[in-house]
Amino acid sequence: MAAVVVDGKAAAQRIRAEVRERVRLLREKGLIPCLGVILVGEDPASLSYVTAKAKALEEAGMTSRDLRLPADTGEDALLAHIAGLNRDPAVQGILVQLPLPSHIREDRVISAIDPRKDVDGFHPVSVGNLVLGKPGFVPCTPQGVAALLREMNVPIAGAHVVVVGRSNIVGKPLVNLLSRRDFNATVTLCHTGTRDLAAYTRQADILIAAAGKAGLITADMIREGAAVIDVGVNRVPDPAAKKGYRLKGDVDFEGAVERASVITPVPGGVGPMTIAMLLRNLAQAAEDWGAGGSKALGDKSPGDKSP
Ligand code: GUN
Repeated sequence: MAAVVVDGKAAAQRIRAEVRERVRLLREKGLIPCLGVILVGEDPASLSYVTAKAKALEEAGMTSRDLRLPADTGEDALLAHIAGLNRDPAVQGILVQLPLPSHIREDRVISAIDPRKDVDGFHPVSVGNLVLGKPGFVPCTPQGVAALLREMNVPIAGAHVVVVGRSNIVGKPLVNLLSRRDFNATVTLCHTGTRDLAAYTRQADILIAAAGKAGLITADMIREGAAVIDVGVNRVPDPAAKKGYRLKGDVDFEGAVERASVITPVPGGVGPMTIAMLLRNLAQAAEDWGAGGSKALGDKSPGDKSP
């Protein structure tokens, strides 16, 4: 039987409606949430993400302060821009679009962001809080994946989740998030060094593909009835398409849809959820800011009280 194909856009719309309501209350108090967005260079995928984020912010009643910097911007100049946004009381969240040009050290840049404004959840303080099960900003795509699983009524507690891909943005935070007590999954992390990848993926109740490799996960690698979440957004050449390419996930969708019980499409699955979660993190940052700006560092997600 073919899988249920999840409508990530519809799920994201519901979250965006909740955020709009939170923003309405903030605006009544005179606070308009604002995200500082820095884009270095003109990577086409990054440009299209940043444009989509700005549109979503506006629809939610929030604003953004966009800084578009040339690709040859020096690290120190970029750090100075971040320092400016850190100091700016009208800006409650900061997002530096990744990847950065290779001459800039990503870790230095991320570490320069005030953790109270770290709505991406990439700062070492946010990462530490997630690992320790303490309250803090959780990266947007992993939150989006978890919300989609809940939306689809996929049981997570006790399930075996196999994550393919160990990026700092998706794979690693997903492992930490879903193994927390509030989700209670058993999580296996696979990556490019994994021997016999299929032997692991076939054991997954929930298979999450986040390797950035088009079509990596084929039908024979999926257990019958598994939930399949495709985080990959890969551009593959397609002469028939207007732009000359089309988006393809890490999962071979046509084959997988026949084996999975539920599956997310690309595009229209996880992608819209990521943006919705960014809006939610910014609303949270603004609420904390409005509460005096001095709320305990990282006092954002409820965290996980038990070991
Ligand atoms: N590049 C790809 N995904 C992301 C993201 O979620 N945040 C940032 N800042 N850059 C990205």
